[in-house]
Amino acid sequence: MKTLRDIELAGKRVLVRVDFNVPMNENGQITDDLRIRTILPTLRYLIAQQARVILCTHMGRPKGQRVDKYSLAPVAAYAADLLGQPVPLAPDCIGPEVAALVNGLRDGELLMLENLRFHPQEEKNDPDFSRQLAAVADVYVNDAFAVSHRAHASVVGVTAFVKEKAAGFLLQKEMEYFHRSIDNPQRPLVAIVGGAKVSGKLEALENMLARVDAMIIGGAMANTFLKSQGYPVGASKVEDDLMATAAALLARAKEQKVKIYLPVDVIAADRFAPDAVCKQVTIQDIPENWMALDIGPASVICFNEVLADAKTIVWNGPMGAFEMEAFARGTMALAHTVAASHALSVTGGGDSNAAITLSGEAYNISYMSTGGGAFLMLMEGKELPGITALA
Ligand code: 3PG
Repeated sequence: MKTLRDIELAGKRVLVRVDFNVPMNENGQITDDLRIRTILPTLRYLIAQQARVILCTHMGRPKGQRVDKYSLAPVAAYAADLLGQPVPLAPDCIGPEVAALVNGLRDGELLMLENLRFHPQEEKNDPDFSRQLAAVADVYVNDAFAVSHRAHASVVGVTAFVKEKAAGFLLQKEMEYFHRSIDNPQRPLVAIVGGAKVSGKLEALENMLARVDAMIIGGAMANTFLKSQGYPVGASKVEDDLMATAAALLARAKEQKVKIYLPVDVIAADRFAPDAVCKQVTIQDIPENWMALDIGPASVICFNEVLADAKTIVWNGPMGAFEMEAFARGTMALAHTVAASHALSVTGGGDSNAAITLSGEAYNISYMSTGGGAFLMLMEGKELPGITALA
């Protein structure tokens, strides 16, 4: 796989696939700019090399239609502010107007194309659309790790039509941390897996089981594991259809001598609301009709002990409904522990990163991946199509 430094860039038209699919509030303000900030080294390098930079990205899921709220105008303006240089937005991502704007680019200048997913052909990996994207460029750079699990035209198809292709600095960095944390970690390796559902993470849990020395399971997905072991989980979220799978996973872990740690206590509430009545109970004592919404303080002590020995920590998914203050303590406590540990710590997924940012520990984590689904796919032990296509 070539990287940016292997390519002569001066005066070349360089199409850079980025993932600027950033969260925005109802006023169109960007609420987390990690995916934009982490691209800056690539952009600054391209500018310094006097390349003509054409940025392309998707935003949201507009389903092949032009949807105003998914326009990249706010993102282009934000990137321009960070770079201190104009980032004009083309009205589309293919077609004669785009070609004319690219022709007008001078060395060291940038242009951003409008949302790729305004065209249904993007998600279909359509060859004709891929060819049209490639037509304006001499070089293609994939620096969109977070969408590299999608076999879409701008990620995979386009690579068949360009003369030269390379990985950007962010993609390289993501793969380096994947290698150091999951692929070839210093041991003990401890995984923390949380979030709402077992279903979306089953393959990741199974693959990680074969790689880790210990695994901590928290968040609503822990309820399914607890119920499979006969604990009363009240009205907590449970995936009943996955109870047998959860029980089998725990049994397999025992056979393989991999320790899985589940919560020993929880914060239970009479309903899912910020002003719910809450109490701290052991997992034997969750009242009927109450829901477990966070791990409790005894679980935090137990998990801290597990983490104390780790040389590598991989974290995906929060320990509770941290978006409500009443149920944030467990996740915040683990964020502080992970941040203070001497282990190499790598986190991925929008919720985990949002929780770490909320805890104020973002700068004390070794690496926060920009990937959600892509990070999970690496945890599943699979290759990412976008990376395979760069070979
Ligand atoms: C993400 O946010 O995980 C990526 O941008 C991919 O988005 P998608 O799940 O809509 O393909």
